[in-house]
Amino acid sequence: MRVLVAYATKYGATAGIAERIGETLGRTGLEVDVRPVAEAEPAGYDAFVVGSAAYAGHWRKEARKFVKHHHDELDTHPVWLFSSGPVGTETEDAKGRDVREASTPKDVAGLTEAVHARGHRTFFGKLDPDALKGPEGLVTKLPAGKKMLPSGDFRDWDDIEHWAEAIGKELQPA
Ligand SMILES: Cc1cc2nc3c(=O)[nH]c(=O)nc-3n(C[C@H](O)[C@H](O)[C@H](O)COP(=O)(O)O)c2cc1C
Repeated sequence: MRVLVAYATKYGATAGIAERIGETLGRTGLEVDVRPVAEAEPAGYDAFVVGSAAYAGHWRKEARKFVKHHHDELDTHPVWLFSSGPVGTETEDAKGRDVREASTPKDVAGLTEAVHARGHRTFFGKLDPDALKGPEGLVTKLPAGKKMLPSGDFRDWDDIEHWAEAIGKELQPA
């Protein structure tokens, strides 16, 4: 069983999540490749995990394009989607909602439906203001920006590995 983990990243946090998903799936005995969506070619794979960083409430364009462009290939195989987004240590937002659920990018529902994805998970992300380019860097250094987008690495490796292990189990031959 060959699995492709394809991801879209801007500053590397999502690449790290994709790599960890790939390593975890590999430990369950699956043959796994981890690739940025721009270099990913679905032909020859039996299952897919596709993920993107969230920016302004959306998946990155190249990830959306990947799913749309390869719709037929994805729709006829098991697919899971993931998002890398919320930063900070709060697990509930002001309305009492799970921060990961509340941060799920707007595109996910439509993409899930389009390829009949078996699941989607939003993971906490990482933000390093010194690595950000242009206005993004400036915004995250201002007090309001710092509050909205706290800096740090909030990726929850246990959460990521548990999710990938469950996928690995589902893909084991009967
Ligand atoms: C300008 C900017 C906008 C962001 N917008 C969102 C957002 O709408 N929702 C969210 O959950 N995270 C948002 N984030 C946080 C990123 O999604 C998070 O840092 C992610 O892990 C970055 O992944 P990457 O390094 O792979 O690009 C934003 C970060 C920046 C710098």
